Amino acid sequence: MAARRKLIAGNWKMNGLKADGLALASDLAGRVKGAGAVPFDMLVCPPFPLLFPVGDAVKGSGVALGAQDCHAKQKGAHTGDVSPVMLKDAGCAYVILGHSERRADHGESDAVVNAKTVAAHKEGLIAIVCVGETEAQRDAGTQTDVVGSQLAGSLPEGTTAENTVVAYEPVWAIGTGKTATPDDVAAMHAFIRGELAKRFPDADKMRVLYGGSVKPSNAAELMATENVDGALVGGASLVADDFWAIATSCR
Ligand code: PGA
Repeated sequence: MAARRKLIAGNWKMNGLKADGLALASDLAGRVKGAGAVPFDMLVCPPFPLLFPVGDAVKGSGVALGAQDCHAKQKGAHTGDVSPVMLKDAGCAYVILGHSERRADHGESDAVVNAKTVAAHKEGLIAIVCVGETEAQRDAGTQTDVVGSQLAGSLPEGTTAENTVVAYEPVWAIGTGKTATPDDVAAMHAFIRGELAKRFPDADKMRVLYGGSVKPSNAAELMATENVDGALVGGASLVADDFWAIATSCR
């Protein structure tokens, strides 16, 4: 089995002003720098206006910078949108795509997520492509059908372990305090790995993150679950102590 280095990614969502973002980013950068060799990669994904200052704050620390979305085009008449070229220019290495909040709030289909992923890859960004079922879909027992079809539609040809990370985030676990059980997570991550292996030769090297109410109290168990290669963390990523505790629970 390929050794996959854990990725602990903070999705700040629409939270934080410049001073908060700078304080949080500098705190994390200091901790990573001071810790020496750590068994995880750390990533922060602030809102667009904070990319440049947060990028400066984490530069050289080992904490990577990412964005929460991008457009599928490189430039042009798309009021309010941000292109992957701009993200690269701001120092981003990663971009989250197809988060369930984008799918729900902005009607993003798998085809849209696929086009954005292609655009991100073209700029050398690592796409964190999010999938996950709703509570109704899980209650109906259709979670693997849903996630299988999201993966098939959202991941383009040319997806590799180098340019893509998959994040499994059951919608019912996001921001709710409800977490999937380690057994449910293990079953879904094994399914995802199997689906990836059908299409991509280096699927065993691809990182598959879990997201949805990850916190210090459940992180160690989740991060020790088979085929879980890190976490996409929302709420708890806004508190340096909590995010650090999640990261350092990785073995
Ligand atoms: P949460 O969000 O950790 O606040 O549940 C996770 C996410 O939506 O990425």
